[in-house]
Amino acid sequence: MKISVVGCGYLGAVHAASMAELGHDVVGIDVDRQKIEALSNARTPFYEPGFEELLARSLASGRLRFSSDFSDARGAQVHFLCVGTPQKRGEYAADLRYVEAATESLIDVLGPGELVAGKSTVPVGTAARLAELVAGKVPGALLAWNPEFLREGFAVQDTLHPDRLVYGLAAGPDGDTARALLDEVYATIVERGTPQVVTDYATAEMVKTAANSFLATKISFINAMAELCEATGADVKQLADAIGYDERIGRRFLNAGLGFGGGCLPKDIRAFMARAGELGADQALTFLREVDNINMRRRIRMVELAREVLDGSLLGKRVAVLGAAFKPDSDDIRDSPALNVAQQLQLQGAVVRVTDPAAIENSRREWPHLDYAATPEEAAERADAVLVLTEWKQYRELDPVAFGKVVAQKRVLDGRNALSRTAWTDAGWSYRALGRRAG
Ligand code: UDX
Repeated sequence: MKISVVGCGYLGAVHAASMAELGHDVVGIDVDRQKIEALSNARTPFYEPGFEELLARSLASGRLRFSSDFSDARGAQVHFLCVGTPQKRGEYAADLRYVEAATESLIDVLGPGELVAGKSTVPVGTAARLAELVAGKVPGALLAWNPEFLREGFAVQDTLHPDRLVYGLAAGPDGDTARALLDEVYATIVERGTPQVVTDYATAEMVKTAANSFLATKISFINAMAELCEATGADVKQLADAIGYDERIGRRFLNAGLGFGGGCLPKDIRAFMARAGELGADQALTFLREVDNINMRRRIRMVELAREVLDGSLLGKRVAVLGAAFKPDSDDIRDSPALNVAQQLQLQGAVVRVTDPAAIENSRREWPHLDYAATPEEAAERADAVLVLTEWKQYRELDPVAFGKVVAQKRVLDGRNALSRTAWTDAGWSYRALGRRAG
């Protein structure tokens, strides 16, 4: 099929290359010429395992190209809308200006019978509004909402092997046509027996925000338990293991620590609250405010724990921060808990050195006043404390004996409950983690 993908950020770039991998003829469109230039030359604008290879393969097949000219989207049977919906400044609500601008630009090139398939995370009600706009300007054009659930670090896998497909469709024959088009796009995935949920616009939009709210709630739940564990001397990791054996609960997303960040969960729960308020249903989501609060408190607690470990004062203490990305296998630093803590420590007088396997370049651009080091050893040279704030494999596998020779004081704070406590304490380190007793 001929497909266009509008917006070549994380979601769009991976989606475009994946659609080409599925055999379609794809053009990726973005207003950012630099991004288009990079992608066209098989350079990935972000770090994502497996994406570079996929991009190179798709470009070489001749089925994928990128352009900053919307007219190149002309003639595609399906146009995927993959632009960002960031948080508005000074508000909780989502900023829809990119979705609106992209839809307007698409309308200029759209033909009857063609489908606009929204993938961006939008407030419930957006799809119905856009459908009216599109049909009003281009009679016979269709709109569907087809949310994406990809996780950074697993974006390629999640796009090519999603655990479900959700189609939000208009009622009647238009919906049937849209469904047939989406089924054709995803034929390989559908044939594999991937579950499909075919529904209306509002449900499809809500699936995405509900899923992210649930995940955020699960993380904040275990972090609230960590607060209690700190007050009682209980161990949150064992607690998570024990409740996680109950299949109704499940162990995944019960890792206590610094909490969630990134470009999705924080802004999505806030936008969901804002939208509920507009709909007069804000009471239903007041708990998400607490989910957000618990999450933000973890960062403050981490700074306090560092102060405690450093004999009550951060002033002049040398602190190594291992991890800057909001999660491992990503160079994304949007709302990164690790960088947030690093900055608080520096503001309070510590001499902070941050390292990360992939995110230093991005961090330096956004936060130039922090000091960066290329390796954990360099960051930890003569350090009074080492904080592991993003659980990269490289950090989980550090040899505490060798690493102990670099630092001034063998004190480690495990912000993600990711290290082997016994391995570190056996090597003579004092070990502290959120929600667990000192070791
Ligand atoms: C998330 C959703 O998982 C994905 O389905 C959606 O499409 C986009 O948002 P992502 O932002 O890539 O994906 O990251 P995710 O793996 O969900 O992690 C989010 C944050 O939660 C990270 O900061 C991570 O460190 C944190 N987290 C995750 C925990 O603190 N504990 C956990 O147990 C799991």
